[in-house]
Amino acid sequence: MYTWEELEGFVEHCQRCPLAYSRKRPVMGRGNHQAEIMFIAEAPGAKEDEAGIPFVGPAGQLFDQLLAGCSLTRDEIYITNILKCHPPGNRDPKDTEKEQCFPYLKYETYLLQPKIIVCLGRVAAQRIITPDFRITKQHGTWIHRKNCALTAVYHPSALLRDPTKLETTKNDFKEIVQMRDRLR
Ligand code: URA
Repeated sequence: MYTWEELEGFVEHCQRCPLAYSRKRPVMGRGNHQAEIMFIAEAPGAKEDEAGIPFVGPAGQLFDQLLAGCSLTRDEIYITNILKCHPPGNRDPKDTEKEQCFPYLKYETYLLQPKIIVCLGRVAAQRIITPDFRITKQHGTWIHRKNCALTAVYHPSALLRDPTKLETTKNDFKEIVQMRDRLR
């Protein structure tokens, strides 16, 4: 088992896949290491690639608003991505990249031991919950696995493209907090 510091060091110097040669900075997850709620998204965008910090671009601003809507802040949660490096042009992560990067996510999850995992968007939901997850039909539904409740919501970038999905997503966020309170 590794410490958070060791894990951060591995990600910082990772060369497990070719994204190591196109990235500006790897993007390790961030937030409270005692958080009950872990959010898992897809891969860093261009702004995150520059900053080395997850969700600092436009999708991140919307994510912060969704958190605020249910009285959560980034200081209370942990947020990370399946891929720690930006795929050029924001293309979907390749299966090989996801597999090479997955051990980092596993260690983050071991260290955090979250009570709740929230997948942000289809790519994370299909990797973490089930390969045939349908985000339009199944967002906001819950499964329980190894003392952890898992759900998925629309990715904030999808909400920027289609704001009609915002209301249902606000409800999904409220239910995340309700689930946290129920599990306490
Ligand atoms: N989109 C993601 O999936 N992750 C980020 O960190 C930023 C945008």
